[in-house]
Amino acid sequence: MSRLTLPWWAKCFALLGVVGAETVTYDWNVTWVWATPDGFGRPVIGINNQWPCPTIHATAGDVVVINLNNKLGNQTTGLHFHGINQLQTANMDGPSGVTQCTIPPDTAVKYQFTVDAPGTYWYHSHNMGQYPDGLRGPLIVQDPNDPYKGAYDEEHILAVSDCITAVRNMLTPSNTLFQPPIPDNLTVNEGQGLRINFTKGKTYRIRMLNFAAFGAAMVHFDSHTMNIIMNDGAYIKKQDAYQLRLAPAQRYDVLLSPNDSDNGNYPFLVSLDINRDWTNSSAEMTWPHNYTGYLVMDESQPLDRRDVVDRWQPIDDAQFQPYDGAAAYSSYQKLIKLDFNFCFDENGYPRSCFNNLTYIGQQVPTLYSAATTGESNTNPVVYGQVNPFIVNYDDTVQIVVNNIDVASHPFHLHGHHFQVLYRGASGAGNWTGRDENYVANPPVRDTVAVMPNSFVVLRFRATNPGVWLFHCHIEWHVEMGLTATVIEAPDRLRNMTFPDDHINACKKAGTPYQGNAAGNTQNVTDTTGYITVPPTTYYGCVFASFLL
Ligand SMILES: *[C@@H]1O[C@H](CO)[C@@H](O)[C@H](O)[C@H]1NC(C)=O
Ligand SMILES: *[C@@H]1O[C@H](CO)[C@@H](O)[C@H](O)[C@H]1NC(C)=O
Ligand SMILES: *[C@@H]1O[C@H](CO)[C@@H](O)[C@H](O)[C@H]1NC(C)=O
Ligand SMILES: *[C@@H]1O[C@H](CO)[C@@H](O)[C@H](O)[C@H]1NC(C)=O
Ligand SMILES: *[C@@H]1O[C@H](CO)[C@@H](O)[C@H](O)[C@H]1NC(C)=O
Ligand SMILES: *[C@@H]1O[C@H](CO)[C@@H](O)[C@H](O)[C@H]1NC(C)=O
Ligand SMILES: *[C@@H]1O[C@H](CO)[C@@H](O)[C@H](O)[C@H]1NC(C)=O
Ligand SMILES: *[C@@H]1O[C@H](CO)[C@@H](O)[C@H](O)[C@H]1NC(C)=O
Ligand SMILES: *[C@@H]1O[C@H](CO)[C@@H](O)[C@H](O)[C@H]1NC(C)=O
Ligand SMILES: *[C@@H]1O[C@H](CO)[C@@H](O)[C@H](O)[C@H]1NC(C)=O
Ligand SMILES: *[C@@H]1O[C@H](CO)[C@@H](O)[C@H](O)[C@H]1NC(C)=O
Repeated sequence: MSRLTLPWWAKCFALLGVVGAETVTYDWNVTWVWATPDGFGRPVIGINNQWPCPTIHATAGDVVVINLNNKLGNQTTGLHFHGINQLQTANMDGPSGVTQCTIPPDTAVKYQFTVDAPGTYWYHSHNMGQYPDGLRGPLIVQDPNDPYKGAYDEEHILAVSDCITAVRNMLTPSNTLFQPPIPDNLTVNEGQGLRINFTKGKTYRIRMLNFAAFGAAMVHFDSHTMNIIMNDGAYIKKQDAYQLRLAPAQRYDVLLSPNDSDNGNYPFLVSLDINRDWTNSSAEMTWPHNYTGYLVMDESQPLDRRDVVDRWQPIDDAQFQPYDGAAAYSSYQKLIKLDFNFCFDENGYPRSCFNNLTYIGQQVPTLYSAATTGESNTNPVVYGQVNPFIVNYDDTVQIVVNNIDVASHPFHLHGHHFQVLYRGASGAGNWTGRDENYVANPPVRDTVAVMPNSFVVLRFRATNPGVWLFHCHIEWHVEMGLTATVIEAPDRLRNMTFPDDHINACKKAGTPYQGNAAGNTQNVTDTTGYITVPPTTYYGCVFASFLL
């Protein structure tokens, strides 16, 4: 049909279809790069021989394509797109052993998905404990319909990370106190000395992210209030704050502006929070790593002033209001109650457990099992010890985490933004089982910090068929097994297909990709060959193992 035969209105619709549906393509070789993020040289994992890794830029509605080629030579890899819900593309979520096979060296895999919602996100390796070695970067989705459009003139990224070298000490039987490796330093935008030009009459949108493996980040700007407009890619009603705490993997978008009487340069402080509980005023606090950056108004004046905070008292993000004012889901059909505690495995290695069970990765990626075990895919037995929870399509799901540990932990759900109905204060104990005192219009996000010896209540609607991890985002705790798996709408996953290049990665890795957790396709409830004891060799962050 020639263009001329189309009526004028059809052309308009065709045009509308094109707007906001661009394809953004990145060709990435994953490579080793020598870098000095905190003044000490080390090998890091970069992209196309560069590190820091690039930022993915897209607009809501776009299709993002990443052609990823593993050129590490001595390691497998994989990418996850944190906070992207992967609607109808559950096989593009990226965690190795969950939605795909690990990608062996000299193997290419294409990721293709729609970025349905605007906001500040990030991508990172979800393969072994690999992202602390450097494979991580921002993923920024612009919003043509930004409700805060016009309220800011420029935007900047402020991505915090910690620098860690001593992972080897964690996964050994002698670590009976479950001591995590303690960071050596912190960086912003993978280095030091961030300067942001700060001009009168302008307002700046700062997109803050925390890439850390372990530490939360406290943030404070000297003499200036932050107007928070978004958390984890979800708009909120504008909220003023003097101090913010970003748990690992969380994001905040804030507006900052100079006022008429401002002059000179303003330092900002980022302090790594490695305390168990920053709310406990009777506990000794430690702030060993600080970072100072500057809002620069006058280049002729020195940048030497430090920002000092007497006491960190960050704003309570559980009190944020969603921008659209949406109400909490009023009831739920499925309860997933997770008691988190540290535990030991059969070999006496320190692990972390949900309901006394540590996550043990299986041979067949969980989504592949869901797609190839037919009617049995509603039976948790087919998945092995990945802490599987079966959820029906359209159920409202309530997740309760009882944190039985003495420290705060950030929990992240893949495939969804959840409502935070309740977050208990430090020491509040376990959930009583009664649904009371919840927030009517709860904030919505993808990563929530649960207080020590306390609990959190979350809800989401199961309208995104797939296999979605729920895990602590302290990378060492992921390595220790602090993960559960939501098997969402398995009846809709039965005939899911996987791209040839993803299957090829399985073949090259020698990984079975059909049947139950052990690759049994004949009798999928036969658990022979399941992995029932966690590995005793640590294959994670390479720099650490390389120091052994
Ligand atoms: C952290 O990094 C900065 C910048 O490279 C350096 O000056 C400082 O000494 C480092 N701190 C530690 C404890 O290594
Ligand atoms: C990736 O590496 C291959 C060689 O291994 C090279 O031919 C190709 O140009 C590289 N791609 C990019 C985007 O740098
Ligand atoms: C892998 O290769 C990189 C680059 O040659 C090297 O820096 C690193 O130490 C190697 N890692 C291991 C575990 O051999
Ligand atoms: C900041 O301002 C200086 C001069 O005022 C200018 O040279 C520089 O390019 C600006 N930097 C950015 C990132 O806009
Ligand atoms: C302007 O900012 C300064 C700090 O730079 C602050 O002391 C002052 O109270 C502010 N004035 C107004 C009107 O907000
Ligand atoms: C606060 O810290 C003190 C001193 O370490 C400790 O005894 C107390 O149990 C802590 N309180 C809570 C609620 O954890
Ligand atoms: C880091 O900053 C905090 C807050 O200002 C301060 O209490 C602490 O002493 C600083 N730490 C170091 C190592 O300078
Ligand atoms: C975990 O184990 C402890 C001690 O054996 C037991 O008291 C508790 O009920 C168990 N919890 C769950 C959720 O099974
Ligand atoms: C919470 O429940 C666990 C059992 O899972 C129990 O061991 C712990 O003592 C309870 N905590 C409190 C404060 O009651
Ligand atoms: C899936 O495939 C099976 C066998 O190939 C077929 O019987 C079934 O109808 C299909 N189900 C759906 C939902 O397409
Ligand atoms: C499948 O395996 C289970 C567990 O070993 C066994 O109970 C069951 O009888 C087997 N089913 C068939 C059809 O062999």
